Amino acid sequence: KETVVSGIRSTGKLHLGNYYGAVKNFIKMQEEYNCYFFIADWHSLTTHPTPENLHGNIKNVLVDYLACGLNPEESTIYVQSDVPEIIELYLYLNMNAYLGELERATSFKDKVRGNPDNVNAGLLTYPVLMAADILIHKATKVPVGKDQEQHLEMARTFGNRFNRLYNQEYFPEPYAFSYTEKLVKVPGLDGKGKMGKSEGDANCIYLSDTPEAIRKKVSRAVTDSGPSEENQEKPEAIQNLFDLMKIVSPADTLNHFDELYNKMAIRYGDFKKQLAEDMIIATDPVRERINDIANDNDYLKKVARLGAEKARESAQKTIKEVRELIGFKSF
Ligand code: TYM
Repeated sequence: KETVVSGIRSTGKLHLGNYYGAVKNFIKMQEEYNCYFFIADWHSLTTHPTPENLHGNIKNVLVDYLACGLNPEESTIYVQSDVPEIIELYLYLNMNAYLGELERATSFKDKVRGNPDNVNAGLLTYPVLMAADILIHKATKVPVGKDQEQHLEMARTFGNRFNRLYNQEYFPEPYAFSYTEKLVKVPGLDGKGKMGKSEGDANCIYLSDTPEAIRKKVSRAVTDSGPSEENQEKPEAIQNLFDLMKIVSPADTLNHFDELYNKMAIRYGDFKKQLAEDMIIATDPVRERINDIANDNDYLKKVARLGAEKARESAQKTIKEVRELIGFKSF
């Protein structure tokens, strides 16, 4: 069986972007592959360094994972910081990661632009830690959204460089994966770009949002004054809402509103109402399970403990082999 690794940072609750970009694929992959799904709490320290941020959010992601249908009996579900072997591999990979290539990463440049006062070394080496997460289990498939594609390319670079340095075909090449035709990019509600936690709560639909909250957020989504001629190209804000509808609604609903738009007969109020209702339907089963799971701390602890054990077993095997390849000898 091929090995699969993916993770989500513990920076808040999961939103529709995380779900359609990543978790929906996780659920499907569990049956077919040898899967490792984790909570990237070390990565979250690059932008969310306080203890208050950390603890609750690790739990949030674990609860959301389980509520979405990740099955601890099928997949290895763990917290990144429970597997210290990852840091050791991170250190080795850092020795062959170059400043220039790290500075050129799009995500790094975005972070520098967004918060020039906190350009820490952790942000710079973020893709190296991510490569360590993946290579530690020698994964080949990594289910992620479109925004992570460049990080996967870097993971291949670091793995291949290690292989060349030690003259071994040791790490296989990991590739971004989705069951959809292309990697997914879920737009946000602000009319500008992708759905994301850092873009603000109003821009995100969380899996745990109540139906009322969803209706309110969608009703406030950015639109315009409507099409000014038939069959015109949609401006970004409107296209984003249609893209969201394409993700959550049945095809005939989408076609119906598309036709209305093209005939200049669309009423954004009706369009948004339908979009909100379909988002509610899509998130219903998850929302129902979240509370029950969140209240069961014993179960959550058990899942995390079992996951850490299984993940460490795989990670220790890799680290032992890597140490030998590098030339560390025990006396
Ligand atoms: P993070 O925490 O930002 O996001 C987690 C996953 O959700 C996807 N995603 C989206 N997909 C489509 N549309 C969106 N609007 C959207 N927003 C988020 C992301 O693509 C991602 O798959 N670096 C990673 C975490 C990570 C990781 C790893 C992933 C650390 N180590 C190893 C895979 C393998 C990140 O920041 O994801």
